Amino acid sequence: MSTQNKEKPTASEIYLKGQENLKKIGVDQPLILGNYASATAMATRQYLDSLFFIPSFIDIPEADTAITLFGKQLKTPAFCSAISRNPYIPTYIPKSWVTDVGNVMARMGALMMIGIGGSDELQKTVDTGASVVKIIKPYHDIDLIYNKARDAVSRGCIAIGMDTDFSLGRLHGDRVTLTETFRQHSSDELKQLIAEVKIPFIIKGVLSISDARKAVSLGASAIVVSNHSVHSFAFGIPAPIVLPEIVDSVGKRITVLVDSGFKTGNDVLKGLALGAKAVGFGYPLVYALMADGAAGVENLMENINAELNRSMRAVGCATVADVSRSVLVEIP
Ligand SMILES: Cc1cc2nc3c(=O)[nH]c(=O)nc-3n(C[C@H](O)[C@H](O)[C@H](O)COP(=O)(O)O)c2cc1C
Repeated sequence: MSTQNKEKPTASEIYLKGQENLKKIGVDQPLILGNYASATAMATRQYLDSLFFIPSFIDIPEADTAITLFGKQLKTPAFCSAISRNPYIPTYIPKSWVTDVGNVMARMGALMMIGIGGSDELQKTVDTGASVVKIIKPYHDIDLIYNKARDAVSRGCIAIGMDTDFSLGRLHGDRVTLTETFRQHSSDELKQLIAEVKIPFIIKGVLSISDARKAVSLGASAIVVSNHSVHSFAFGIPAPIVLPEIVDSVGKRITVLVDSGFKTGNDVLKGLALGAKAVGFGYPLVYALMADGAAGVENLMENINAELNRSMRAVGCATVADVSRSVLVEIP
């Protein structure tokens, strides 16, 4: 009889359980592809899976996954992307998600972004002790944006941002919705907002060098290269594919983060090697939450960080700053 402790679930076991539990409540989504088996999501996966490491197993260094973002010391470059209980569509995500996820992010020393939602939810998230970033939607009503920005600053968010990729509405399958709710904001409007906010401002949903350069000239502190898990625009270029050229163009002037399609610690290492300072997870955390609540989120984050640490050691990187494109070999 085995006397070993029960092993913690792996990432793929967590995703499978989350998927099974979602099916039980009638939510039938393909694993981590957003709601749809979209071309962008599949191309993202294909690209990440075409990147390989050349490991060395003699004189393996210890590795430290710590980073500093927005002046905060974090223990991991894996972060919680701006997830939310979407008020516009029926959602299965439990109301307790902010504390379930926030407590884990606080314990793990990971950045937590939070998307659409009210002040109560934001306060509960900040109260977990996590380093919180509020991402505000590009609402039609600019006063609402300012109110939400001031609210986020007053509640102790370390940065705020806007998912400008929702300016043309939300994509639901091939249906575009919420075009009356959101709109694009001019460069002048964004510049004024960013200047007024006084804490770091993030432009989320950048997929072009042009937007990345504009984010710099508008005074943003960071961008998230992201396709919103294919909820904003279909056939947008996969985030990890466009990431290196964006980093080459603006990486010395602005902090470049990435999300959309990353699932594991090895994916995080690939994102870092492609030039991102940190790598976000949206759906993976939702699956983890649905698999086992806060314990599922904790297991997933621990798993991601342990795999990242192990792979950093194997490619000879003692710190996140040591990770560079040279650790990757592409086999298309
Ligand atoms: C349930 C859910 C809600 C989301 N809500 C928001 C939101 O309110 N604002 C936002 O900027 N992004 C939102 N996103 C997008 C994520 O921040 C992120 O860009 C995307 O999920 C990353 O891709 P991934 O799911 O493949 O990790 C949401 C994602 C999920 C899964």
